[in-house]
Amino acid sequence: MSAELSSDLNRAATLLQSGGLVAFATETVYGLGANALDSRAVARIFAAKQRPHFDPLIVHLADSESVTTVAAEVPEIARHLISKFWPGPLTLVLPRKLIVPDLVTAGLPGVAIRVPDHPQARELIRRSGVPVAAPSANPFSRISPTTAEHVLQHLADRIDMVLQGGACRIGIESTVLKITAGESPLLLRPGGLPREVIEAEVGSILLPPGDGEEEGAQVAPGRLLKHYAPRKKMVILTDAEEPPAHASTGVLSFRTLPNPERFGKVEILSTAGDLCEAAASFFAALRRLDDAPGVEVLYARRFPDEGLGLALNDRLSRAAHS
Ligand code: TXA
Ligand code: MG
Repeated sequence: MSAELSSDLNRAATLLQSGGLVAFATETVYGLGANALDSRAVARIFAAKQRPHFDPLIVHLADSESVTTVAAEVPEIARHLISKFWPGPLTLVLPRKLIVPDLVTAGLPGVAIRVPDHPQARELIRRSGVPVAAPSANPFSRISPTTAEHVLQHLADRIDMVLQGGACRIGIESTVLKITAGESPLLLRPGGLPREVIEAEVGSILLPPGDGEEEGAQVAPGRLLKHYAPRKKMVILTDAEEPPAHASTGVLSFRTLPNPERFGKVEILSTAGDLCEAAASFFAALRRLDDAPGVEVLYARRFPDEGLGLALNDRLSRAAHS
């Protein structure tokens, strides 16, 4: 590690210890971190993001062994998932210890926990010596950041520091799974670890309630219908529909498409049609379309419902919800 990075990490760790807000890269998206055990620091996260207090935060740890510092109980199935998938894009909701402030869990009995698969993030947490609460580092309900520049665009004057960690490798948020002893795991948010990969380890998992039922539902507090949203109107096309050939049309396309010059701006997520590659560029491409002058309405089609496609479709439908 360079001396410069090491001194940035020390500065960031000291800021966390003294109640500051530090944005940092993880393998999924950039997080906006604060000391999870310091309610005042956590309150600053909600203020900076303008996030409602009913939406709880994920606690990030430096290593799997630290899980018992914030979880009161780690059921067998959670132990297995931890041994397979941490560090990585899997968040587990486990019974909380009382040391975790109510603000972090929004008063719920479970606390969401993960160990990020980004060496710099883990080193930051290790040096700070505290668990780090971190939502995605974007204003509430807006597009998630996958570079330090994205973070600075909207939050520069509300936070103490951004640690440069490059572009995020996975590009969409972690999968959130609620674990209750004696029950099947419940998928609260599809994300960077595909459902099939989890099911290959622990058998079938329960899916979230249908979108119609979930507004305000306490099982999955963060699953708001409008989320990850561009400022511009976004439309999801059926297979039979075509985006209008017009300069005001923006297209977010999974693969290459014929005659792209028909449209104002086209973003191709993966010429090879690879879902991992598409996930890694999804939020950045959505931002470029949102910022493109002259483009007024954004069009996209659903992804195949497999692998990371489940998480991408979830983000797409929430981005298009008005
Ligand atoms: O990949 C990620 O998970 C990123 C990086 C920074 O780690 N973080 C992230 O945090 O996406 P956020 O706050 O944007 O999304 C956290 C999700 C929300 O949907 C929230 O409702 C859910 O996790 N969640 C957090 N704590 C929970 C809890 N105690 N019970 C149920 N759901 C919880
Ligand atoms: Mg978020």
